[in-house]
Amino acid sequence: MAIRFIENDKRIFRLDTDDSTYLIGICREGYLGHIYYGDRLYGEVDDYLLRTEEAPYTPSINKRDKIAFLDSFPMEFSTGGIGDFRESCLKVRNEGGNSGCELFFHSYNIYKGKKKLEGLPASFGNENEVDTLEIVCEDSVLKLRVILSYSVFEKENVITRSVRLENKGNEKLKIEKVYSACLDMDNQDFEMISLCGSWERERHIQRVPLHYGKQLVSSIRGESSHQEHPFLALATKETTQTQGRIYGMHFVYSGNFIAQAELTPYDSIRAVIGINSEEFSWNLHPGESFQAPEAVMVYSGDGIGKMTRSYHTFYRKHLIRSPYKNKMRPILINNWEATFFDFDSEKLLSIAKEAKKYGIEMLVMDDGWFGKRNNDNCSLGDWIVNTDKITGGLKKLADDVNKIGLKFGIWFEPEMISPDSDLYRKHPDWAIAIKGREAALSRQQYVLDLSRSEIRDYIYEAVASILRSANIFYVKWDMNRQLSDLGSSYLDAESQQELFHRYVLGVYELQERLLTEFPYLLLENCSGGGARFDPGMLYYSPQIWCSDDSDAIERLAIQEGTALIYPLSVIGAHVSDCPSHSVGRITPFETRGHVALAGSFGYELDITKIPKEDREQIPNQVELYHKYNDLIREGDYYRIASYRENHLYDCWSVVSEEKEEVLVTYVQVLARPNQRSRRILLQGLKTESYYWLEGTDEIYTGEMLMNAGFLIKGLLGDFRSRLYHFLEKK
Ligand code: DGJ
Repeated sequence: MAIRFIENDKRIFRLDTDDSTYLIGICREGYLGHIYYGDRLYGEVDDYLLRTEEAPYTPSINKRDKIAFLDSFPMEFSTGGIGDFRESCLKVRNEGGNSGCELFFHSYNIYKGKKKLEGLPASFGNENEVDTLEIVCEDSVLKLRVILSYSVFEKENVITRSVRLENKGNEKLKIEKVYSACLDMDNQDFEMISLCGSWERERHIQRVPLHYGKQLVSSIRGESSHQEHPFLALATKETTQTQGRIYGMHFVYSGNFIAQAELTPYDSIRAVIGINSEEFSWNLHPGESFQAPEAVMVYSGDGIGKMTRSYHTFYRKHLIRSPYKNKMRPILINNWEATFFDFDSEKLLSIAKEAKKYGIEMLVMDDGWFGKRNNDNCSLGDWIVNTDKITGGLKKLADDVNKIGLKFGIWFEPEMISPDSDLYRKHPDWAIAIKGREAALSRQQYVLDLSRSEIRDYIYEAVASILRSANIFYVKWDMNRQLSDLGSSYLDAESQQELFHRYVLGVYELQERLLTEFPYLLLENCSGGGARFDPGMLYYSPQIWCSDDSDAIERLAIQEGTALIYPLSVIGAHVSDCPSHSVGRITPFETRGHVALAGSFGYELDITKIPKEDREQIPNQVELYHKYNDLIREGDYYRIASYRENHLYDCWSVVSEEKEEVLVTYVQVLARPNQRSRRILLQGLKTESYYWLEGTDEIYTGEMLMNAGFLIKGLLGDFRSRLYHFLEKK
């Protein structure tokens, strides 16, 4: 069992993964305290890090200074209003209008396996893969029960956490804040790593030293967002890819979040992650419960790379459910950047025919096939095929594409409503808006109020009936604006602040229903590029469109940041035309292909129009994809060099589980005069094995490649790239 309760004169919960240990203590007062999280401990453990014998003493020793105690004790799950002035994880208001909350240990339960989180995406594992600890705490004044769940995935070095609240009293309680995880530790000269950006520049890595006070990333945009990401890591200053300590916290949720590190006057750190409390509250009536989403924690004592690989393996095995997660996905061609709204069946079929000749396997029809949608000003909500464009109807188009030999996929944006749509003319109250205030438009559209079941039903039927009507293999589920003007004509005044969370639950319910009826649908989530690229969405779709920016060079930073925590198999990456729509840059077609191979591969261009010499490279790219995708999808990812740091070149590799095969991708962003060959150090090989560089007569030992390095030779020119494939020589 990876979880034990040690009860002698102390009371300690001990959670062990292969390489880490997590200790929680119950102090004499009954508060739950965080003792330790770090490298695996093998011997006996103790709780002296709770420091209850040091001043300020615990209240039973020195009651006159209870506040000084509470304000410094390493709480396992912090509450506010009673003397701990650091960030609280929980705020619950009673009918009297007061919000103080004090939690004491009540009981616990340890079991094999892991329960589902009702209505929420969450990791899973069988009884041999995961053990769960539930610690029950109570506030006897509020009559509130708080169940802290910890699931230990030993092999992947992951501990997941979530929190459930139960109202055991007779009064209504209002939850005003509930986070999912809290980590109180001594500062170890930590730096904070987070992912930040904007539309077309998502998830760039940011690393900054901690300062006193609070530093955070968050979203109040109704989605996890382009701008910030529900993730933070604390790394000691000397931590690199291959050495040093790092703690990661990632949130399995697609709505508003906060991930915050607070350096306190006692030089302790409180790191928290959870639903953002801004514009959030939830009515908890007697007998009801509330489930907060899951946080995924990884500790690595061997550098950032090991944390990365733990997240990758964990998400592949224990979060993504799709039947396609371990399969090579069809190479798709999407018509968005090829035609935008200007297409019809004939145009799509001409793309499909040409695509087939070059080995592409699926055509995806993007935005513009329904209602009167010839631009982005109208028709969202009117999910009726526009037969002026799709002549003969959707079934005919899908059949014709199939006859050419390609699978067929389609785009939807189910959560939205255009003011210029039949749906809005019929149901103006279906849009999220504040009564008496004109709601802000974004891309000329409003958001549907998914807290209402009749709206969810309508949307579901609209999407499902299209899917039932034709042979559709793939759906791209898009969402092109963030939420503002939060108001629901359905919720009462007391419940308006539930809307943000109810909206996210509504999206989850819709996608769950879709996958229940169409279990073999290949779903790709998307949000104006990568604004809802989060672990919540991975539970429903095995791939997510990473960014609307598919310029090969900008993608280096986007894909490096994304791959910090996400396996390459989930990163939607396509080859697009040049000059890039996003930055106007011209890069070689070959480089665009090499960069897109590190993801779920496809094309985003008009194959009938691109230069002949580019088009003729497609069969080779298709071949590379078929040759390497198993390795890229399932292998271990190593970040070798970062253009973000060195401003010259980028390099990563993927190594097979048995370490017999390695694919290195090298991108020279800027050539440098007087630059001879460049040396890169490989990682993750068998030291004593010999590796053959395919296509050459060069043979190296793993030890040489990792310590002395490998030379990148003879690469002239900017934006050039190379793939190197090594095979172990037996
Ligand atoms: C945003 C997506 O990211 C694009 O790929 C495309 O589908 C457009 N929306 C269509 O409106």
